[in-house]
Amino acid sequence: MPTRTDKLGWIGIGRMGYAMAERLAKAGCDLTVWNRTAEKAQPLAQSGAKVARLLPDLAAKDIVFVMVSTIDDVKEVVGKLLSGPDKPRLIVECSSISLEGSAELRKILAEKNIQYLAAPVSGNAKVIKAGKLTFVVSGPKPAYEMARPYLDLMGTGSSYVGEGELARIAKICHNVMLGVVIQNLCEITVLAEKAGMPRHAFLDFLNKSVMGSMFTRYKTPALVNLDFHVTFTPKLLRKDLDLGLDAGCEFEVPMPLTSLTRDLLQQMIGQGMTEEDFSTLLLMEAKASGVELKPENVKVGDGLS
Ligand SMILES: NC(=O)c1ccc[n+]([C@@H]2O[C@H](COP(=O)([O-])OP(=O)(O)OC[C@H]3O[C@@H](n4cnc5c(N)ncnc54)[C@H](OP(=O)(O)O)[C@@H]3O)[C@@H](O)[C@H]2O)c1
Repeated sequence: MPTRTDKLGWIGIGRMGYAMAERLAKAGCDLTVWNRTAEKAQPLAQSGAKVARLLPDLAAKDIVFVMVSTIDDVKEVVGKLLSGPDKPRLIVECSSISLEGSAELRKILAEKNIQYLAAPVSGNAKVIKAGKLTFVVSGPKPAYEMARPYLDLMGTGSSYVGEGELARIAKICHNVMLGVVIQNLCEITVLAEKAGMPRHAFLDFLNKSVMGSMFTRYKTPALVNLDFHVTFTPKLLRKDLDLGLDAGCEFEVPMPLTSLTRDLLQQMIGQGMTEEDFSTLLLMEAKASGVELKPENVKVGDGLS
C-alpha cells in the first residue's frame, strides 16, 4: 500500500531508474514513467506503473523524479517536461551531477515556483533490488518531508544534509571514494594472486576483516569470476572523478589519490574498454603486472542476496 497518495512521475528508465521506479510501482504508488527509449519502460507496466508516451504528460504530477546521465541530459529532459502549461510541485533530481549544474537547475525551477531537491544515490541496480539503496538529500526541509516516504520505499532511507546543493558534494565525495577503493581493491587482489593465493581466498579474508564492506563484498564475484557485466560504466565513473577534482579545485583541497585514479581510469577508457563494468580496472592492473587472469569459477556470495 502507498504511504502517500501523491501522483508521481519518473523520467529516465536506465539501469538505476528502472530498479528505483520498479520499487515505487510495486509498493503501489501512483506512478507514471517516461524513457527516451520507450521500450525500456514498457516492462514496468507489469509492476503497476503507467507508461507515458510524451514527456510533458508528467508535468501535472505532484512529484517528478529524474534519473538520467549528465547535467546536459537533466536540463534537456526538464526543459521538455516544462514545455507545456503544467508544472509539478516538486522535482527530485537523483542523477550524479555537478554542484554548479544543480544550482543552475535550482534557479530555473525557482523562477517557475517549483520546489527542487538534490537527491543523488549510493548503490547500483542490484543494491536497489536488495532494498539497500541510500539517498543523500539537500534542499528545502518541507520539500524533503514531502519526498521522504517515497525515498524510504526505494531503499534503506535518506540522509538530509542541508540546504542548496550540499548533497551533490556528498555524492561526489562518495564516488571519489568508489573510484579510489576499486582501484586499490584491484591492485591488492592482483598482488595477492601474483604472490600465489587464489583471489577468492584472499577476498574471503578481506571481506571478513574490518576492511571488508558492502562494496568489497558485492564486487567480489566480479573480481573472482571475471564477470564484468556492467553495473556502472567507466565513463560515468570518470565523470564523477572529474566532478571531484573540480570540487577540489573550487574549495582548494588537494586530491592526489583522485588525480592518479582518474589517470588510471583514463588509460583504460583510452584503450577502448568502455562497455563493461568499471571493475575491469582489475584487467588493467593484471596486464601491468604481467599476470594472466582466469575466472576461478568459484561460487562466492555478494552479500546482497
Ligand atoms: N549505475 C550505477 O551504479 C550508479 C550508481 C549511483 C548513481 N548513478 C548515477 O545515476 C545516473 C544514471 O545512471 P545509470 O547507470 O542508470 O545510467 P544508464 O543505464 O546509462 O541510464 C541513463 C538513463 O538516462 C536516459 N538519458 C540519458 N540522456 C538522456 C537525454 N538526453 N534525454 C533523455 N533521456 C536521457 C537514458 O535513456 P535511454 O534509455 O533512452 O538511453 C537512460 O534512461 C547517472 O548520473 C549515474 O552517474 C549510477
